Amino acid sequence: MRSLLVVSVTCAFLKHATSQDNILDNVTNLGDDTISQRRDKNFTELVAYDGYNSETYTVTTDDGYILSVFRIPVNKSCKDSSNLEPIIFMHGLYLSGDDCIIPGPGKAHCYIYSDACYDVWVPNNRGNRYSRQHKSLDPDKDPEFWNFAMDEMALHDLPAIIDYVLDKTNKKQVYYVGHSQAVGTLLLLCAKKPQYNDKIKLGFGMSPTAWLENSRFIVIKVEAAANEILKTANNETNIEFLPYGGFFQNAGKILCGSKASYLACSALLFSVLGFNKFQITSDVLPVLPGHLPAGTSLKDFLRWGQMVTNGFSEYDYGSKQNLELYGQEKPPTIDLSPVTMRWIFFASENDYVSDVKDVKTLVSALTRSDAKMCLLADKSFGHLDFLYADNLAKYVAPDILSTMKTGEYACNIDSLSNLL
Ligand SMILES: *[C@@H]1O[C@H](CO)[C@@H](O)[C@H](O)[C@H]1NC(C)=O
Ligand SMILES: *[C@@H]1O[C@H](CO)[C@@H](O)[C@H](O)[C@H]1NC(C)=O
Ligand SMILES: *[C@@H]1O[C@H](CO)[C@@H](O)[C@H](O)[C@H]1NC(C)=O
Ligand SMILES: *[C@@H]1O[C@H](CO)[C@@H](O)[C@H](O)[C@H]1NC(C)=O
Repeated sequence: MRSLLVVSVTCAFLKHATSQDNILDNVTNLGDDTISQRRDKNFTELVAYDGYNSETYTVTTDDGYILSVFRIPVNKSCKDSSNLEPIIFMHGLYLSGDDCIIPGPGKAHCYIYSDACYDVWVPNNRGNRYSRQHKSLDPDKDPEFWNFAMDEMALHDLPAIIDYVLDKTNKKQVYYVGHSQAVGTLLLLCAKKPQYNDKIKLGFGMSPTAWLENSRFIVIKVEAAANEILKTANNETNIEFLPYGGFFQNAGKILCGSKASYLACSALLFSVLGFNKFQITSDVLPVLPGHLPAGTSLKDFLRWGQMVTNGFSEYDYGSKQNLELYGQEKPPTIDLSPVTMRWIFFASENDYVSDVKDVKTLVSALTRSDAKMCLLADKSFGHLDFLYADNLAKYVAPDILSTMKTGEYACNIDSLSNLL
């Protein structure tokens, strides 16, 4: 059963031959040039296409992973750019830095912050299309390259990225805007290496994932079930999963990569992620399959299934090994009492992944942090709307900008009772 699952998963996500690319492009272009342009460009190309500048840096972690970190440097027309503060935008599970530019100028996180004269840094976690490199391991040949989960991203990728940005900008603190998994990783880092609390001026956690007990997302449920099956198969889960250019991406391009398929595809997307009022519009949805999924390890994917059953907990090695390692059969909950940095979490009732009840659990676990939850007044907002929504510039980004500017908690809420 176990091997069958691993084999079928592997086959399903094997990379396609490049010759298919042209055929695919011809099938999906359908004469809509703006969409295919935005869909098929990588980060640097898309930023240039949108009329902004970008820089690419490589950051090597203490365990040898070579990460791409993008930057949209402060626009020269901003006054006194030496004072301007850096922001790190961190993507979520099997996504990439593309998330902060996909909807385009005036709508995407990174452009909005750049227009407001911030210095925007966009890292990529190990294993995604931009960070598929290591000092000694070959991602195509060495399964050991894929032996990681969010724990390694938290304890190796993030500190290397944060220190790099602080060093390059000569600052003591950086703002952090994180989506989904990126909240869990920073929580874990600050819990295990508390010196990082002081390096983050303020954390904005959009659709935070830590506790997932109440998640209505079908994929999370699959992750939880698969994790139960594969729990003791440690090294068998060290394989690439949902790679860029893989099966899911190509299927997505064929099914959803054009305006013509908008209605069918949005219905499909909303049925798994929560129905909304078409926040992901017909000029953005067909662009998505060119950018996601962007790849991670199967181990990371399954790691999130553990959170459904165990809460925000240490790695689950199965009861025998857990007993040796932790002195108990179930992995212990991660102690968040060392987390002292300030957090603002954005949650929405329609978010099928990050349920409001679970975000409240997170806020109450942060006993020593000034942590608040902002519940969106627009109850239809879903998990991916925090990245791609038409109204992002109306609901989420202004709250982030205003809070950064004044230091005062700002939140587009409909009643004070939402304030936690
Ligand atoms: C795709 O379209 C281009 C131009 O329309 C054509 O030159 C090319 O041969 C096509 N490729 C395939 C694989 O059909
Ligand atoms: C994007 O694609 C261009 C052209 O293939 C390439 O030169 C560039 O290095 C790519 N950028 C990244 C970040 O992969
Ligand atoms: C800088 O800002 C000006 C004025 O807002 C804008 O016209 C220009 O396109 C921006 N340049 C870049 C490289 O972002
Ligand atoms: C998994 O891999 C590690 C190192 O790559 C090795 O030390 C360990 O024995 C392996 N475990 C199993 C169960 O094969």
